[in-house]
Amino acid sequence: MALWGGRFSNKPTDAVFALSQSISFDWRLAPYDLRSSLAHLAVLENASLISKVDALKIKKALKDLMSEVSSGKFLPNSQDEDVHSALERGLIEKLGVLGGSLRAGRSRNDQVTTDLRLFAIEHMLMLAQMLTELVEVILNKASEYVNDAAPGFTHIQHAQPISFGHEIAKHAHAFTRDIDRINDWFHRTSVNSLGAGALSGSSLKLDPGFAAKNLGFERSFENSIDAVSDRDYVAEALFVTSLIGVHLSRIGEEWTLLGSTEFSWANIADEFSTGSSIMPQKKNPDMAELARGKTGRLIGNLMSVLAMLKGLPFAYNRDLQEDKEPLFDSLDTLALVIPAISGMIATTNFDRAKMKLSAPTGFSLATEIADYLVQKNIPFAQAHEAAGACVALCEKLSCELHELTDQHFAGIHSSLDPAIRNVLSVEGAIASRTTAGGTAPSQVLVQISDAMKKTLVQRKEIASKSKAFSEMMGA
Ligand code: ARG
Repeated sequence: MALWGGRFSNKPTDAVFALSQSISFDWRLAPYDLRSSLAHLAVLENASLISKVDALKIKKALKDLMSEVSSGKFLPNSQDEDVHSALERGLIEKLGVLGGSLRAGRSRNDQVTTDLRLFAIEHMLMLAQMLTELVEVILNKASEYVNDAAPGFTHIQHAQPISFGHEIAKHAHAFTRDIDRINDWFHRTSVNSLGAGALSGSSLKLDPGFAAKNLGFERSFENSIDAVSDRDYVAEALFVTSLIGVHLSRIGEEWTLLGSTEFSWANIADEFSTGSSIMPQKKNPDMAELARGKTGRLIGNLMSVLAMLKGLPFAYNRDLQEDKEPLFDSLDTLALVIPAISGMIATTNFDRAKMKLSAPTGFSLATEIADYLVQKNIPFAQAHEAAGACVALCEKLSCELHELTDQHFAGIHSSLDPAIRNVLSVEGAIASRTTAGGTAPSQVLVQISDAMKKTLVQRKEIASKSKAFSEMMGA
């Protein structure tokens, strides 16, 4: 049903309708649209613009529509332009002309952004909840490998030996920050727009502060033009979802690499792997690859909304209708990727023996030689030079650092006495890195337990926000 037409003598052509309709993708805003209509109804009733008797009738019709929408009994039809028109048709079918009363003091411009904020809040909270579960999976996996040595890399070259638990745990911190980002975003997004009307507010005695409270928003808009044109919350949500994608993608890249035949460190469980239709031996890390691949569309969604916004005069423009699909798509994409990646991480086994064997190779203990000399008061530049000379000699002799003789060491630097061998062990090197946040197992355990505690706090905060949100939706 069209919500306008009085001033037109001809109906829009099919092509016009086809381009303008948003019902094919905005129907999922229906529950939020109905809920915000309840709030608007209360505002109109408080302002004595709708009688108590009529308000009761409209309220019942809205509640009935809510259950009919959720059961699928009420559906949009091919003439409904968008979710707002479809639901007004539903009200009019139930109440006759009275069903058109809610349009007083409200425009689709303030309505649509109210609906979208509610949708975004509910789904971003669900996303944050999923991330806390992912963080727990990562930290649990990390704690299995705290005492297992592996080479640590920079530039994908052996750098220094590390605890493999430390290596896995690093991913948890990225997602913990993402959860914090969602929390920050929540406070900026929790703003009511109802009462802004088309752009300038209303001559009717509406109370946006009341609507804000009724809908569980932290506050109401301060500028009605900003209220209908602001989509920062969409752009920010898309940035956060993109960054989450980037973090998942980096996990995907690592798992793919570590599972390759050359590495053979990671053994991804069968149920999180896929096969090949032609090569019977294949077990492919498709979940890891899809996490990497899907991130392209997450970033694309952010770009499309930023590009859509950049040239818009600062009020409602129809371009803004393009805000929804990217947001829906990014949230749907992460809801698919995160459980698959959580499962993949939880069920991956790493080859401890292989990682341990590999840990000292590639001269990853060279820094220990330099640090040993520094402890004997040799300036670091000189110590670095001497350790480099040890590596060069090993390369010449085709041996590892611990295979150099006492004479070799002494010949390179007089302070490289036989005790140097005490630091040329992987376990010793790892255990000595007791800097807070460093790779010594004692520190990794502290790190994991602190991160676990932080996640629990985040999880409680999210749960209480989600509970308040569902209570509001059910009110
Ligand atoms: N479907 C529209 C959207 O998503 C609703 C708002 C339409 N407003 C208007 N003035 N035409 O943005």
